Amino acid sequence: MAKNTMTLTDNRTGKEFEYNIMSGTRGPDVVDIRSFYKDSGMFTYDPGYTSTASCESKITFIDGENSELRYRGYDIAELAGKHSYLDVCYLLMRGRLPNKEESKDFDLEIRHRSFVHEGLIRIFDAFPDHAHPMATLGAAVMALSTFYKEHLNLEDEDQFKEMRRRIVAKIPTIAAMAYRNSIGVPQIYPDVDRYFTENFLYMMRAYPGGKMKNLGGGINDEIRQVEVDALDAIFTLHADHEQNASTTTVRAVGSTEAHPYVSIASGIAALWGSAHGGANEKVMDQLKLIGDVKNVPTYIAKAKDRNDPFRLMGFGHRVYKNRDPRAESLKGLQDQLRKELNLDSKLLDVAAAVEEAALADDYFKDRGLYPNIDFYSGVILTALKIPVEMFTPIFVIGRTVGWITQWSELKQDPTAKIARPRQLYTGK
Ligand code: ACO
Repeated sequence: MAKNTMTLTDNRTGKEFEYNIMSGTRGPDVVDIRSFYKDSGMFTYDPGYTSTASCESKITFIDGENSELRYRGYDIAELAGKHSYLDVCYLLMRGRLPNKEESKDFDLEIRHRSFVHEGLIRIFDAFPDHAHPMATLGAAVMALSTFYKEHLNLEDEDQFKEMRRRIVAKIPTIAAMAYRNSIGVPQIYPDVDRYFTENFLYMMRAYPGGKMKNLGGGINDEIRQVEVDALDAIFTLHADHEQNASTTTVRAVGSTEAHPYVSIASGIAALWGSAHGGANEKVMDQLKLIGDVKNVPTYIAKAKDRNDPFRLMGFGHRVYKNRDPRAESLKGLQDQLRKELNLDSKLLDVAAAVEEAALADDYFKDRGLYPNIDFYSGVILTALKIPVEMFTPIFVIGRTVGWITQWSELKQDPTAKIARPRQLYTGK
């Protein structure tokens, strides 16, 4: 029987190095090169980690070739819109879906943990009006670590659980506060009578004192169930995505023994970039820039031009070289919402024309560039009257559970080490 190893030969010396091949439950096998430097005195070179598995994980599985995404074994299509986002949080954190009673208890606990210390609310006063909510959200989450510093003992299972649930519960409150700060309206408190997602919409829209008036537009609209359901599904579709850039950042910072909420704040920073979660904001800017269906060919040509830095935002993905299954779910949601809400049809028409033109074009086909989650989420969030600068904070709300679950897995991994890659030095 063939040995479950791989032999690397240094052709300069003829020296051979043998490494074990590890197999996961699914996905490509992995060559265990942990002792490579000790054995050979050489490093491996993989900028951007395109061929590197940085950890072992039991949380999320992606098959990029076959457009598959699973949380704890469940296909994303079985979860989004079929189970509440909070049940999905429970699934990610506990490894199984809750039963009815557990689901109710968890929901209640999250509602009651949604309040933040008064001191944290005052932090927002220090920021200028119109500060981007991603900046103030990241800063406030960093500051949250100062409120829970003394009591953190990760050896204590209850405290460990509480630390995870607390951040999931508070993140929509902090995001809504970041938004209210950015438009200069007074802060309000969470409403425990409302479910997680409805409460977030309420905190985005309500007048001080919690009054809701159906005046149309702006922060004062009534909340419709169809909006809550759509946003809930969006949170689920963003909940985790294995070792993406922001999760890798959370794990790297966590590996230095930094505070968990400081690690989450670093994930927020990483997510903000336009190559990652910031793309949803850029998609909307781009659709508005294109402006009309007749302009689509010009912009497709720009995206294909190697001498033009213009990229089609919301297209392409490091892992999905076929369709992004999250985008597929969102497209279904978009079509449904188009019927139920009055979507901006001109923007939708431009989006549809961009999608159609790119999918038919060899440049995009040859490179496996398909619409990703950010392409559709922007249009849907616009339909939900979410302002563009809140698109990435909404991604943060959905992803926080993934980050904290990945952080916890790192903490429970006896083989985990401080993240410390090496380099190929070519300087003086
Ligand atoms: N528009 C035009 N061309 C593109 C695009 C795009 N959106 N994305 C990739 N390409 C081209 C590149 O120019 C390159 O072409 P080449 O082979 O001729 O040089 C080829 O496709 C491969 O691109 P890479 O950048 O090497 O692919 P990588 O896997 O490293 O990047 C990424 C993936 C960053 C997502 C990229 O596709 C991109 O910038 N997309 C636009 C931003 C975006 O939508 N980001 C959100 C990603 S999803 C998320 O984070 C939630």
